[in-house]
Amino acid sequence: MSIVSERLIIWHGQHGRHHLPWQKSRDPYAIWLSEIMLQQTQVNTVIPYYARFMQEFPTIDSLAQASLDTVLSLWSGLGYYSRARNLHITAREVMHYYQGQFPCTRETIQKLPGIGRSTAAAIAVFSFGQREAILDGNVKRIFARYYGISGYPGENKTQNLLWKKAEESLPVHYHNGKIEAYTQALMDLGASVCTRHAPRCKICPLQSECVALKEDRVNQVPTAKPR
Ligand code: ADE
Repeated sequence: MSIVSERLIIWHGQHGRHHLPWQKSRDPYAIWLSEIMLQQTQVNTVIPYYARFMQEFPTIDSLAQASLDTVLSLWSGLGYYSRARNLHITAREVMHYYQGQFPCTRETIQKLPGIGRSTAAAIAVFSFGQREAILDGNVKRIFARYYGISGYPGENKTQNLLWKKAEESLPVHYHNGKIEAYTQALMDLGASVCTRHAPRCKICPLQSECVALKEDRVNQVPTAKPR
């Protein structure tokens, strides 16, 4: 158990979000839908869309049978419409190639359209309790600061190093929902404490080991995109 994961799991118990609509479910379909919506859209915006989607399409089969126009009209206002198109294609692929059973490993989930490594990992964690690392934009910022990693995270070299740190930081024991709590804690910390602007380091559970904080470089890490 890394010290990061230990601190994050305790922090999540006290300060994390526990009542988001998709947290009620272990259905990979429901989790997948929420993670796609959350890729480029904030939680508060996603909530009503997620509710309408789940009401209209409670199962992956119902989504696969819908017309693309119906799916796009329900998505209308969320933006990044390729997400809705990929959603529809994926539902049909899961029905056709997986007999309606959502694939259950990070590697297989990642082969579906519109699902990168981090989203696939989040789905594998929240649906199946698998021990997989996530690394979205917020989480890159947390690890870049905590481990004092400079370099633009969009560059392969920096990104690979961040993935390595993300994997090393995972909780070792993942029974009893630890991997889920840990993963949600990273998302919650990135959204509410380790923010891009004006991070709240004084209340951060990782402040005592954070390299960027120690070196007074929090505002320089992660490194901005080179121009
Ligand atoms: N952002 C991406 N996935 C999320 C989740 N499951 N909960 C909250 N914010 C998220």
